Amino acid sequence: MAILNILEYPDPRLRNKARPVEHFDNGLRTLVDNMFDTMYAAPGIGLAASQVNIHRRIIVIDISEKCDEPRVFINPTLSLGSGTLETDEGCLSVPGIYETVSRAENIVVNAFDQHGKPFELATQGLLAVCIQHECDHLLGKMFVDYLSRIKQQRIRQKLSKLKRQRAQD
Ligand code: NI
Repeated sequence: MAILNILEYPDPRLRNKARPVEHFDNGLRTLVDNMFDTMYAAPGIGLAASQVNIHRRIIVIDISEKCDEPRVFINPTLSLGSGTLETDEGCLSVPGIYETVSRAENIVVNAFDQHGKPFELATQGLLAVCIQHECDHLLGKMFVDYLSRIKQQRIRQKLSKLKRQRAQD
């Protein structure tokens, strides 16, 4: 078990664009295991490799209450479907901040699992929102980018204050 360090907004490394995974090897599977450990420990419901400073197209998600439905999406491609859904989103890279974001309600995602097996998933609601949020990370995009400039500024101020407090402790 390994807990990885999560980059925090506005760290510029969160803006890197992730490259596709080419080798579905043991190194990849260890990384996926460590990403789950890190996400469950945080605790969170989704984590993109970009957030642990590994710029490859890898996402782990578990939206279940009992943390027993781990999902892995490698090299995901998204098709946005009908409807929009507004939910309060948070992010392990933006600790303590929750803001309303509008997303597609229905999506289809094509991806590979950690063994290189391709799959297609049509889904909606919270899981669809979570997949869109994590896919954004792989493009160097964050949920705060959808907010007004004033809100983004306030969030940066809040986080830098939090960082100073943590440094003093
Ligand atoms: Ni996030």
